[in-house]
Amino acid sequence: MNGLSGTGDERLTYSGYLHLDSVLAAQQPVAEPGCHDEMLFIVQHQVAELLMKLLIHELREACRLLDTNEGPSCVAVLDRIDRVLAHMVDQWSLLETLSPASFAEFRPALQNASGIQSAQYRIIEFLLGYKRPHVIRCFSPQPEMMALLREASEAPSIYDQFIRYLHRQGHGMPVTGRDGVLEEDDALVRAFRDAYAYGASDVRDLCDRMASVAGTFHLWRARHVQTVSRFIGRAAGTGGSSGVSFLNRTLQVRFFPELTSALNREPAEPAV
Ligand code: HEM
Repeated sequence: MNGLSGTGDERLTYSGYLHLDSVLAAQQPVAEPGCHDEMLFIVQHQVAELLMKLLIHELREACRLLDTNEGPSCVAVLDRIDRVLAHMVDQWSLLETLSPASFAEFRPALQNASGIQSAQYRIIEFLLGYKRPHVIRCFSPQPEMMALLREASEAPSIYDQFIRYLHRQGHGMPVTGRDGVLEEDDALVRAFRDAYAYGASDVRDLCDRMASVAGTFHLWRARHVQTVSRFIGRAAGTGGSSGVSFLNRTLQVRFFPELTSALNREPAEPAV
């Protein structure tokens, strides 16, 4: 389909433009006998993947704007990223209308399929600076996806772009590469605190939006764990993990750790 009506009349149509024939043919329940609620489960995941696609698109744009020193324009893009994430958080309330008993009916049909295999989710983590190149390995049967993942793991994240941007704006950031580093750097916390206190208003706006993105992503993870706990209790995940205890550990991962500490924590009292 090329988005045209296909009737000899070459004008674009609504369904052609949106490729609705392929999008609406993609909901294929697998449970036998059929289970009414599986449709909700499929649509919920597909909508989340579409929103992740938008997140990746916007995160790349935010990185580009920081790289070209267009910080003030980046504020609006970060706002959009935060709202997409908030939309994903709201999605959980829809899935909560599914009962654990109904989920148990079609869960065996999912076999080993699991969100842990979501390549887009890993790309988002990489773009936000949480880089663990080994997670790419499980995508080796999908060479195109591997290439996209590798590209995202090698490109500077939005956090690194932001730190470099502040450095070029004269804020003297002590380190300029934080991708994949988990320990917090105290000098960087102090530099963010100074940039926030003495920087131009767009610097404060950028700091606030970045911290909000980290917070809203955390909320998504927390709601996921809450939902999973309600549906499967202490059972293992279909993807082979320990389930809730594995997901609880992912709640310890913080994006932009020095920035969020700088904005959250009061400076220590000077020693007397
Ligand atoms: C009844 C609903 C759900 C249940 C019971 C569930 C369960 C789980 C479990 C147990 C894991 C750990 C990996 C494993 O499978 O062993 C996991 C991971 C994951 N799930 Fe879900 N999930 C649900 C809904 C969703 C939805 C709607 C999404 C949206 C895309 C999603 C995305 C993910 C992602 C991205 C991971 C990987 C998390 C990480 O590695 O940090 N899940 N899920």
